[in-house]
Amino acid sequence: MEVIIRPDAAAAAQLVTQIIAREVRANPRLVLGLATGRTMESVYRMLVRLHREEGLDFAGCRTFNLDEYVGLGPNDPHSYRYYMGQHLFGQVNLAPQHTHLPDGTAADLAAECARYERAIAAVGGLDLQLLGIGRAGHLGFNEPLSALRSRTRVKALTPVTLAQNAPLFADPARMPRRAITMGVGTILDSRRCLLLATGEEKAAIIAKAVEGPITSMISATSLQLHPRCTVVVDEAAGQRLQETEYYRWIFANEPEWESFR
Ligand code: GLP
Repeated sequence: MEVIIRPDAAAAAQLVTQIIAREVRANPRLVLGLATGRTMESVYRMLVRLHREEGLDFAGCRTFNLDEYVGLGPNDPHSYRYYMGQHLFGQVNLAPQHTHLPDGTAADLAAECARYERAIAAVGGLDLQLLGIGRAGHLGFNEPLSALRSRTRVKALTPVTLAQNAPLFADPARMPRRAITMGVGTILDSRRCLLLATGEEKAAIIAKAVEGPITSMISATSLQLHPRCTVVVDEAAGQRLQETEYYRWIFANEPEWESFR
């Protein structure tokens, strides 16, 4: 794992955007794992700008989102399919048939989860998985006690997650209590992971996820097992990390980061 601390949220999102753009340019058929949440909105805004102003081309890319609420269809403004349409899919040249999210309205949810895993495998697996982090440390909706080898499945949401996401619902009582999410094992199978966290309210969980012991109580700690994971934070989200001097030295000196500095 490598940790990069940027001065503020905009700079952190910009670095994540640059990393994604470089991967898309290097491999026009990139299979991109996508995330939702407030943190990702600025990344999508910057990707749209790169598409419009610099011709960043998504025509050959395939995308797979981490998760979707059970019971919400694509036209429901609270569904993640709707979110993706608003923030990215509707604004870049991704072919609709190349964008994938689990179907939260499927009659047979277990079959839908298995189909989603097969669809990811059919395109050769995920090349780059973009990740946010929930306040309790979940990736996607891998709530506490998610098995570290879990695959796509239905998870019940914890009270912390319900409270965190309820403000996004016009009527919080209508927020689904379950979601389909890629499993921790599905995420760890991607060839590269890229996690973005910004703001002071993520500082405590980032310290645990990056420097704490690996535990299924905090699915983000599983990223310590991943061979190629980059965690990008702003100063606020990085303020509880211990080894910041080391992380800063690497970003300032390692050749891999030269063109991003
Ligand atoms: C939801 C999503 C997660 C995301 C989290 C953080 O729970 N399922 O994938 O990481 O929100 O959201 P935010 O960026 O709004 O803090």
